[in-house]
Amino acid sequence: MDTCSGKVAVVTGAGRGIGFVIASYLLAEGATVYVPDLDGERSTQAANQLGEGARPATLDVRSAQDVKAFFARVDEEAGGADLLVNCAGGYAPLVPTLNITEDEYDMVMDSNLKGTFLCCQAAIPSMLRKHAGAILNFSSLAGRQTSPALGSPYTSAKAGVLGLTRHFAKEFGAGGVRVNAVAPGTTEGERVAGLLTPEDRERQLAGIPLGRFTTAEDLADVAVFLLSDRARYITGATIDVNGGVLTI
Ligand SMILES: NC(=O)c1ccc[n+]([C@@H]2O[C@H](COP(=O)([O-])OP(=O)(O)OC[C@H]3O[C@@H](n4cnc5c(N)ncnc54)[C@H](O)[C@@H]3O)[C@@H](O)[C@H]2O)c1
Repeated sequence: MDTCSGKVAVVTGAGRGIGFVIASYLLAEGATVYVPDLDGERSTQAANQLGEGARPATLDVRSAQDVKAFFARVDEEAGGADLLVNCAGGYAPLVPTLNITEDEYDMVMDSNLKGTFLCCQAAIPSMLRKHAGAILNFSSLAGRQTSPALGSPYTSAKAGVLGLTRHFAKEFGAGGVRVNAVAPGTTEGERVAGLLTPEDRERQLAGIPLGRFTTAEDLADVAVFLLSDRARYITGATIDVNGGVLTI
C-alpha cells in the first residue's frame, strides 16, 4: 500500500532510533522523506541506508534560525512538507530536581518542547497553502504521568507537547491541518539500552501487561496510520503505545 505516495515528509531526529524506523516506513509508503538530525553525519548515514527518496540534513530543532532555513529548503526543493514527525528529543539527565542546573533544564525543554513548536511553526504555512497536512508529535508515557527516572524537565516538556498538540489541532483544523501525538512507553533502542540496568529492565517488564517493551516498529505503524488519510477525522488526539502500563 502506498498511503503516502507523492507526499513530502520530514522526520526530525531520524538519524537513528525511532525516527529512523518511521522514516523507513514512510519511504515504503511512497513518501519522499527528509531525515534531519543534530548529528549531520548520522543523518547522511541514515539517508544512505534508507536509499532513494531519503534526504539528509543537519538541523538543530532548538534554533529558530536553523529551523526556518531548513523548512525554506524543503519549500524550495519539494514544495513544502505534507507530513511532519517531531521525533527529535533529549532525555533529562538522571539527577534529582533540586540539583538540576538551568542549562540542563533548557537542554531538555528546548530539544523536546521548543523544537516541536518551532518545527510546527515553520512547516504549517505550506500545509495551509495546500489546505492539507498532518503532524505527529512525540510525547511520552512521562508526559501522560511522570518519569521519576528521567526527571521533572522531561515530564514537563513531554506534557507540554500534549498541550501544543491540542492547541494546534484547534488552531489549524479549519486550514486542513491535523495534529496528533503519540506517547510511547519505554522503547527498545540504543538510547534505552544505555540507560537501563538488567534489574531496571526486569522491574519495568513486570509492570507491562503485554509483557514486553515498545518497539520502534509499534510506533511506526501508528505513525503511518495517523499521518495517512485513514485517520482523516482524527486530530488533537494522543495515542498511548505502552503495552497497557497506563490505561485511562
Ligand atoms: N526510547 C524511549 O523509550 C522513548 C519513550 C518515549 C518517548 N520517546 C521519544 O521518542 C523520540 C525518539 O527517541 P529515541 O529513543 O529514538 O532517541 P534516540 O536518541 O535514539 O534518537 C533521537 C535522535 O534525535 C536527535 N536529536 C537530539 N536532539 C536534537 C536536536 N536538538 N535537533 C535535531 N535532532 C536532535 C539525536 O541526534 C538522535 O539521532 C524522542 O522524542 C524521545 O523523547 C522515546
